[in-house]
Amino acid sequence: MDLAKADIERFDLASAPDDFLRDPFVYYDALLAHAPVLPQPDGSVLLSRHADLDRIYRDTRLYSSDKKAAFAPKFGAESPLFEHHTTSLVFSDPPLHTRVRRIMTSALTPRAIAKMEPGLIKTVDHLLEGLGGRDQVDLIEDFAATIPIQIIGNLLDVPLEERAPLRDWSLAILGALEPSLTEAQLTRGNHAVEAFKTYLSDLVARRLAKPGDLETDVLTRLIRGEGADAQLSEIELLQNCIFILNAGHETTTNLIGNALALLHDHPESRAHLLAEPDLTPSAIEEVLRFRSPNQFGNRETTAEIEMDGCVIPAGTNLHLCIGAANRDPDVFDHPRRFDITRKPNRHLAFAGGPHVCVGLTLARLEGRVAIGRFLQRFPSYSLLPDRVHGGRIRFRGYASLPAVTG
Ligand code: HEM
Repeated sequence: MDLAKADIERFDLASAPDDFLRDPFVYYDALLAHAPVLPQPDGSVLLSRHADLDRIYRDTRLYSSDKKAAFAPKFGAESPLFEHHTTSLVFSDPPLHTRVRRIMTSALTPRAIAKMEPGLIKTVDHLLEGLGGRDQVDLIEDFAATIPIQIIGNLLDVPLEERAPLRDWSLAILGALEPSLTEAQLTRGNHAVEAFKTYLSDLVARRLAKPGDLETDVLTRLIRGEGADAQLSEIELLQNCIFILNAGHETTTNLIGNALALLHDHPESRAHLLAEPDLTPSAIEEVLRFRSPNQFGNRETTAEIEMDGCVIPAGTNLHLCIGAANRDPDVFDHPRRFDITRKPNRHLAFAGGPHVCVGLTLARLEGRVAIGRFLQRFPSYSLLPDRVHGGRIRFRGYASLPAVTG
């Protein structure tokens, strides 16, 4: 199905039709072809071209990440969700952004990540062991969602027996970033922030009493700060711990789940990967492009700009459609084709510029180990017909992928 120019020009992200959730890609193609700069009824603007997103991500002077103005009416300026989302690294500008980012990147060096690989392999192999010999499994619940919870849990050294609630809190808090929200979603998100903060205050108190290994424990680093003036306030510390636990969780679950679904739906790609396992890193890049776990980003203009003859005032919220930019025919040959050998593959799944994903090396490693070892162990897995989509616009993935492994 192709959408006509007149139809796509009426598209409103805040009240997207049901079939947009099922298949946003036809909308993305129409946006790219007919309306790459699309003003929205609420005054925001929806952008889809790769070149525009790439430029915007690099320019933090003209395009701010601070969301106080956008989130006050959405969440309420006194709400827990407002405090969380406006204090976390991703929605902040310098100087807070610079301080927090420095601490996080210093703990996620390639050397530190390489050290995590043996533990990651052990976690994945243990999960694969549990999948074998069962009539039916859920590749999200029993595999994809468990890996990042353990890895991110290790990063902040959350005791194993305390990790169970992390996934639900994380889903509720990130779910509140959807373009439009029900009262129930808002309440769930606010409760999750409060519960998460209470839990983390206690964890921080325990870590203060007994500091962890400075080289590997991100929480100990965040508590200590980097440099003389870099100590985080208590709120900054708690909210950024919540943020790092969330940022690395649903996104990576979606990467692994989307990869398993795509390789199932493209049997020739699966056969190719089985024959040439060295292609795994390139296959992961193609999954990131073709089914980006994070489909939308946002920025706010700090001055009036003009794009395609459209005057956009200062203070305008821009929706950056990563999912569309990653199918832009000006950058990708045959963008609708899933091609695990694609080279170059300049996708924007991790955004770009000063806010580029801090966890991209870790996410790629998790994807590579999870998919590589899963295929080795279960080369002829098949998905059952009743897969369940996550039901989100911003984060694209599956809530459930029932499968047989043999
Ligand atoms: C496939 C998995 C992942 C995807 C697709 C992803 C995607 C993204 C994107 C698009 C951004 C930029 C947001 C923006 O500025 O608008 C981002 C930022 C970030 N991500 Fe990831 N991410 C993934 C995994 C992870 C992991 C595993 C971690 C943590 C270990 C992580 C930590 C962060 C942090 C801390 C930021 C904020 C960076 C900043 O604002 O300076 N991410 N991620």
